[in-house]
Amino acid sequence: MGLSQAIVGLMRHHDTYIETHLGAGAIMKRKPPALRSIGIDLNAWSIRTFCCDHKVELVHGCCHRFLADYPFEGSDPVYSDPPCLMITRKSQRRYRNHYGEADHEALQGFLRGLPCSVMISGYPSALYDRILEDWHSVSVQQLRRTKPRRTRD
Ligand SMILES: C[S@@+](CC[C@H](N)C(=O)[O-])C[C@H]1O[C@@H](n2cnc3c(N)ncnc32)[C@H](O)[C@@H]1O
Repeated sequence: MGLSQAIVGLMRHHDTYIETHLGAGAIMKRKPPALRSIGIDLNAWSIRTFCCDHKVELVHGCCHRFLADYPFEGSDPVYSDPPCLMITRKSQRRYRNHYGEADHEALQGFLRGLPCSVMISGYPSALYDRILEDWHSVSVQQLRRTKPRRTRD
């Protein structure tokens, strides 16, 4: 089973779907459309060039701010695929919108406080083992690497 299919398969029924760190929107594009879909990314180019065959409300900005302000109504799931930790990357070159440990911890703090189900993607790391210790974790074997998905119901 492909990575995207595995992630989509973990999602419960929902009316509104929120995907932070949208990038090219691999999951947004592959999941069945929700009544309302919202994609957020800090990178203007990602937002400008994003295309999908269902309607997506695009937000150009920091998802931490979005998550802090969005009026969650209880069941809207959030899926996050933040930039991976340097330690889990093959290349140690910094890239735009780099995420340090403090950013991952801050994001996790926001996600933990949400009154809805949350999924976060990331490669295995000691940091994730620590800050997501009590989350349900699913590992998906890829051709070259294992990228576990964590969910909180
Ligand atoms: C791992 S990539 C996401 C890949 C995406 N799942 C895809 O299918 O292309 C991480 C994304 O997070 C974005 N990003 C980094 N910091 C952000 C922030 N504070 N708020 C929103 N997006 C951010 C980057 O611009 C980048 O597009």
